[in-house]
Amino acid sequence: MAKPIVSMINVEKWYGANHVIKNCNLNIMEGEFLTLLGPSGCGKTTTLRMISGFELPTSGVIRVEGESVEKKEPYERDVNTVFQNYALFPNMNVFDNVAYGLKVKKVPKDEIAERVNKMLKLVQLDGFGKRRINQMSGGQKQRVAIARALINRPKVLLLDEPLGALDLKLRKQMQIELKRLQRKLGITFVYVTHDQEEALTMSDRIAVINEGVIDQIDVPQKIYNHPATRFVAGFIGESNILDAVVVGRNDTGIQVGTEVGNALGVSDDETIETGDAVSIAVRPEDTLFSQERQPGFSIRGVVKDHVFVGNLVKMMVTLNDGTEFKINRFSEDEMIEPGQVIYLYWEKEKGKVLKTRNLVNTDSHRDIKGGDEDEEEGYAAEA
Ligand SMILES: Nc1ncnc2c1ncn2[C@@H]1O[C@H](COP(=O)(O)OP(=O)(O)O)[C@@H](O)[C@H]1O
Ligand SMILES: [Mg+2]
Repeated sequence: MAKPIVSMINVEKWYGANHVIKNCNLNIMEGEFLTLLGPSGCGKTTTLRMISGFELPTSGVIRVEGESVEKKEPYERDVNTVFQNYALFPNMNVFDNVAYGLKVKKVPKDEIAERVNKMLKLVQLDGFGKRRINQMSGGQKQRVAIARALINRPKVLLLDEPLGALDLKLRKQMQIELKRLQRKLGITFVYVTHDQEEALTMSDRIAVINEGVIDQIDVPQKIYNHPATRFVAGFIGESNILDAVVVGRNDTGIQVGTEVGNALGVSDDETIETGDAVSIAVRPEDTLFSQERQPGFSIRGVVKDHVFVGNLVKMMVTLNDGTEFKINRFSEDEMIEPGQVIYLYWEKEKGKVLKTRNLVNTDSHRDIKGGDEDEEEGYAAEA
């Protein structure tokens, strides 16, 4: 088992009254490709800036290779950053941009030449050394920035939406290249994106961040198939999500009631019990329909329309309260005509019953807001 190379322990960050990072506990393992995924403003950049040392946590500890970096300046940390806007020196050529960090360290000239040329080869810019930065395309500039960040052989490379400025085709190509580079070098990558598809493609593990809280951290398949919270289910891939109340639970599953009828589902969260307010999420491709009610289900809808989108047919169903439910199929033959009444159901295992936030994080919220000793004890006694 790999060991953690970066650890964040009870890290909090406030900007004035704005609580940006909430009780972050994160172990980044040596050699892994970890992605911080979440919408704009959720705290991804702030997390990276605290690891790199450009920003200090309000409280909590950050360790790199087991050692607290609190008193270390950014340049003293074994960590480099690649930014979306490249941040290259426009008046220097490619070679000098990449060589910069070695020159500062007064590495001998011939060693610099050897290392820079090797690095340019690695990022597929062999022979581009003499080019001026303004003669390079966006993708090439980002390769220069990556080479420059790797030249000092950092233990950890932080990448803040590095492909965000590139067009879709180039971005897809660079995703594969970056992943290959990371595998080859074995350097830990901490990658920031708001693009769930990019995260699913590239990562060994994904941390999904929701308003400064890590809602879930796991391998891509787990994040996709077993979302821990309603937020994760809504953010990763496409889901139909209904507010619900738990009607009953047994060894095999959970029965819920919603505004539009009953349904069945499952949950990894063993604390969910009868009476709890939850959500139930089901993917469009997992949603089934028939002319009659199925055991355990009573959600009725009217087919609104269906559209053909390349490899998929998407059908919209309007539920009794006006909510729209999405169903995906691969063939138009499986669809039925607008205006027809249908009953929705799914294999119980495909219905994910979720708390709005997972328990650990709910607790950390209470600790921060409350801080009232008596209240704490009351809660503990009750539990
Ligand atoms: N230097 C700063 N001063 C004040 N607020 C900031 C600063 N940097 C970021 N924020 C705020 O912190 C929150 C998280 O920002 P950020 O980490 O940049 O999010 P992300 O990278 O996920 O888009 C936002 O509400 C943002 O406005
Ligand atoms: Mg950002």
